[in-house]
Amino acid sequence: MAAMTMSRANDRFSSDISSRFHELKGGGVKEELTTTFAELTRFHDVKGVREMMKSFRVREVPSYYVKPASERRYAPAAEAAVNSVAQGIPCIDLEALSGEGLLRAIASACRDWGFFQVVNHGVSRPLVERMGNESSEFFAQPLEEKLKCSTPAKVAGPVHFGGGGNRDWRDVLKLNCAPASIVAKEYWPQSPAGFRNTLEEYVAKQQALAVRLLKLISESLGLETNFLVEACGDPKVVVAINHYPPCPDPSLTMGIKAHSDPNTITMLMQDEVGGLQVFKDDGWIDVRPLPNAFVVNVGDQLQILSNGKYSSCLHRVVNNNRQARTSIATFFSPSHECTIAPAPGLVDELNPAIYPKFIYADYIKAFYAQTLAPNNSNKSSFLAGIELHRNYNSYTKKCFSKVSSSPGSCTTSESSVSSIRSN
Ligand code: OGA
Ligand code: NI
Repeated sequence: MAAMTMSRANDRFSSDISSRFHELKGGGVKEELTTTFAELTRFHDVKGVREMMKSFRVREVPSYYVKPASERRYAPAAEAAVNSVAQGIPCIDLEALSGEGLLRAIASACRDWGFFQVVNHGVSRPLVERMGNESSEFFAQPLEEKLKCSTPAKVAGPVHFGGGGNRDWRDVLKLNCAPASIVAKEYWPQSPAGFRNTLEEYVAKQQALAVRLLKLISESLGLETNFLVEACGDPKVVVAINHYPPCPDPSLTMGIKAHSDPNTITMLMQDEVGGLQVFKDDGWIDVRPLPNAFVVNVGDQLQILSNGKYSSCLHRVVNNNRQARTSIATFFSPSHECTIAPAPGLVDELNPAIYPKFIYADYIKAFYAQTLAPNNSNKSSFLAGIELHRNYNSYTKKCFSKVSSSPGSCTTSESSVSSIRSN
């Protein structure tokens, strides 16, 4: 079935591009113009959407990027109706609120939405502006400059430039930023000139903000202030700078298809263009850009550590046909060796653990194996499939079977990766 779907897609794609090839031949089109699905995959992965638009002078969406109907946006009228009744996601002012009031605001935002914005967050406006401007400048550079940032390991490497996954209409520059052992500064962009310093400064501030938020979130759950910070061990911090070129027909594509973030907490800086949406009460709601705000979202590990009290929500990015959008996501994750399980303080006879204990590296492996599977529409979160009381199936049991350390603590138990590989 998978093979059939793929070969039909291949045929469609081949005729699509080959007709364009004949149309454009002789019109200054580069040698690398491609004719097969595999070649466009390579082109997309390495060079991205912006370069594809430029090289092929595309005026329509190539079928390669067309999403199945179930993954596209609703009719704009239906989305407008949802957004006109929604007040939007909560916005928390970290200076105006304090004490119990702040904890209550955080608790309801994490429980009811899994998404909120923060203002007066302590990261200076000039730094945020520099980070935003230099990121946009990076994507506007010639391809040769951007390609210098990719390691031979491509997306699995410590720094990568290329098209986003899942044939989404998005380019990305992904940079490992912590711990030091996974950082490769020699691949960080040399141009624009100040970028390396700006990123270093920005990441330090983002990391401090993540710790501050995780302390507040721990307290809002009635846990020790440091519980969530300690549960993440020596955290992994990755910055992904997303660039969404304008799209000739945004009704057919997705900037990022619906997903939840597998990490603990994500902080996102977005420009004024908009496009991020959160799934709530059966509808997609716009996360409208607010000046000087970060969008914060609960990731899968926080949902698990909170034993399901807080929600890692599905979200996605829709494209537009007017202007490019840039966003900067900082993903704060447990270290790969951490053992993750619902916090012991939130588990008792009346509230049994609804998630298994596992090693974070195994979660990541299983998450990507499932979310990147060819037929996965990714409408439902990977998390739903590992709930102990409902859907815990033999596949996930195998993934997480060899963990043997205490819940919620970061330990260096032997990883059960081999149990995944052998299946
Ligand atoms: C992500 C993400 C949202 C955005 O990178 O995981 O959800 O607005 N990004 O770019
Ligand atoms: Ni995301």
